[in-house]
Amino acid sequence: MPAATPLAPHPVPRVETRFRRIVTEFPVPESLPVLEQLQRCEIRAMQGQPPVVWDRAEGFQVYDRWGNMWLDWSSGVLITNAGHGRREIIDAITRQAQHGLLTNYCFPSEIRAELAARLVSLLPPPLSKVFILTTGSETVEFAIKIARMHGLRTGGRGKNVIVSFEKAFHGRTLGAQQAGGIPALKEWIIHLDPGFVQVPFPDGYWTPDTSFELFEKTLAEQGVAPRQVCAVMLETYQGGTAAFAPVEYIRRLREWCTGHEALLIFDEVQAGFGRTGKLWGFEHYGVVPDLTTWGKGISSSLPIAAVAGRAELMDLPDPGSASSTHTGNPVCCAAALANIDIILREDLAGNAARLEPVLQEGLRAIQREFPQAGFLAGKGLVAGLACVDPQHRTPDGKLAHDVVWRAVEKGLLMFNPVGPQGCTIKICPPLVITEDAVREGCEVLRESFAEVLAERRG
Ligand SMILES: Cc1ncc(COP(=O)(O)O)c(C=O)c1O
Repeated sequence: MPAATPLAPHPVPRVETRFRRIVTEFPVPESLPVLEQLQRCEIRAMQGQPPVVWDRAEGFQVYDRWGNMWLDWSSGVLITNAGHGRREIIDAITRQAQHGLLTNYCFPSEIRAELAARLVSLLPPPLSKVFILTTGSETVEFAIKIARMHGLRTGGRGKNVIVSFEKAFHGRTLGAQQAGGIPALKEWIIHLDPGFVQVPFPDGYWTPDTSFELFEKTLAEQGVAPRQVCAVMLETYQGGTAAFAPVEYIRRLREWCTGHEALLIFDEVQAGFGRTGKLWGFEHYGVVPDLTTWGKGISSSLPIAAVAGRAELMDLPDPGSASSTHTGNPVCCAAALANIDIILREDLAGNAARLEPVLQEGLRAIQREFPQAGFLAGKGLVAGLACVDPQHRTPDGKLAHDVVWRAVEKGLLMFNPVGPQGCTIKICPPLVITEDAVREGCEVLRESFAEVLAERRG
């Protein structure tokens, strides 16, 4: 758990490269009033990230007001796939706002119709309908609702189990949190719904057994019969590690779900819109889910999210029985449409795929030098580098935290580590990043590991 942001400025070396500029102490002394105001007025849970006060951001760089410039490896939190502050997105937002329609609830509007059709045009059959919402958690809640409705329809009240995966993260609302696989995040729920069950995720490191038999065995051990399962939900890659499951495992899972009339749900809130080197992350597995959820990279900017799925599932709720106040907000729709145009026109999924070997090789070099960088995973322009005690393979969240903060002081922006005990350094730059910038980022990360480990040795 990250501590509250320390607000004592200290000197850091000056940095001046094409991609990074650090010219002040860290945190910036002049930024303290902003940081203090947030600490005073916002909840404690909002604290803990590196204290960079964002002023503006463009492409793959973030700026503060005091002359510093960071090479961004965060994309906010995997939001800005098309790059920060894209002119086309700003113009689309401005045009829609100037046009004079700022909200529309569920009343029809041309722009929502345009976005719905655009999203549907990108779907592989048999997926053919979308429901536009506002946040990733909201999409997961809707997917859960459809899963339960499908269970009721096909198997009655007993077909209510939603199987998800250990270490998974699907959001912080009540249903999404229960579908998640991090017990500490669920303690507050107290009366956990027994219809949410988790099985190990076959990442090949934290769970060495990647066979599909482990899925079936774990369900049996938990007393769940296949006919009780209404859905299996997984992140296309686990956000906490960036690990994908083996292709063969997912193909078997797809068959298992079809055979037992259970829905297969891919949560693509992180993986969608080109992040993994393909437009949809599930394409890596050669399967099509029954439902998929999107958020983050759908607009590279304003809050908007969506669920897509097979028509007969998406149409289970009666007219009027699924809605959300800001569904398909017109300004957000304009942002999403402009964003999708950029992602397709500039082939940003292709750029992510092209840069994957550069990023992976840079991170593998770090692994070779520092055995503490124990587990590397990812595809396209998402990667996770987990810090461990190399002897025992136990997570070293402190090392990951110190490396990230050191990198931020050097002008490489990342959010706090995620995953098992906060030990995964997550790398997820905007998909417009260049090869030179990826290489420079890897070198900064390497230096950060070297310095932090040298300081540890004393
Ligand atoms: C895979 C996944 N699903 C759902 C969510 C929740 O999205 P939001 O924070 O927009 O509610 C996240 C957020 O990190 C996520 O990574």
